[in-house]
Amino acid sequence: MTKFLDIARQAAHKGGTVLQKYWGHLKHVRKKSLEGDLVTEADNESEEQIIEIITKNCPEHQILSEESGIHKAQNEDYLWVIDPLDGTTNYTHQFPMVAVSIALYFKGSPLIGIVYNPILGEFFEAVQGQGSTLNGKSIHVSSVDQLEKSLLATGFAYNRRETEDNNYAEFCHLTNSCQGVRRAGSAALDLSYVACGRLDGHWEIGLKPWDVAAGALIIEEAGGCVTSFKNEPLDIYDEVILGTNGLIHDQINRELIKVRS
Ligand code: IPD
Ligand code: CA
Ligand code: CA
Repeated sequence: MTKFLDIARQAAHKGGTVLQKYWGHLKHVRKKSLEGDLVTEADNESEEQIIEIITKNCPEHQILSEESGIHKAQNEDYLWVIDPLDGTTNYTHQFPMVAVSIALYFKGSPLIGIVYNPILGEFFEAVQGQGSTLNGKSIHVSSVDQLEKSLLATGFAYNRRETEDNNYAEFCHLTNSCQGVRRAGSAALDLSYVACGRLDGHWEIGLKPWDVAAGALIIEEAGGCVTSFKNEPLDIYDEVILGTNGLIHDQINRELIKVRS
């Protein structure tokens, strides 16, 4: 595990260095499919650097990464799940909620999760069974136990104009049920902020495995709870996520079920 953790840290730092390099100096911003779904040279180069480190050190491991998809390999038990830049829209506007997200899964269970914001210098890390840290210091979820006293976060998928399941009704409903809902534009950081108690919960619809794979472990190892909206254990391919401090989990879940039924 120590070996894998070293590799994950190295890869996150490499990706982070790329994000620092292009910060404010982007030349190529391209629309992928839908409005707001962007890719830049920072996404691509960060991904290349991260994958290079992982394949050099663990050539037998599989990789799933946002921009290049699945990289098959001999040992299907190990899967690295990578978002080389979570918060690309923020990045293009120099809104500093951006991160590299790297997770390692073994037979479907998370072993390591790292979410690194190189602009604000915040490095979130979790190792299965060993807790979560922020810049090396242990972190824990908040103790807020009433929904009406909570601060939540959410996000809206790129296909929000095309789908009816766009989270708008849920957003309005929960905005009236808590102290506030933030939409900062990086799901990986939203989840990490729940882990360190800055937020009490985060829910979202339409996320991808690379958005949540690391952040989910960081919440769990910080004492929180992560599920689908049906209160089932999180499946990173599910596209819906509810991550909380655990104390308000059922309360939010009930409200989500109410507004979605
Ligand atoms: C996006 C961010 C955003 C979330 C979107 C994601 P990207 O990731 O995590 O917060 O609301 O659904 O796609 O495209 O910036 O890597
Ligand atoms: Ca993402
Ligand atoms: Ca991304």
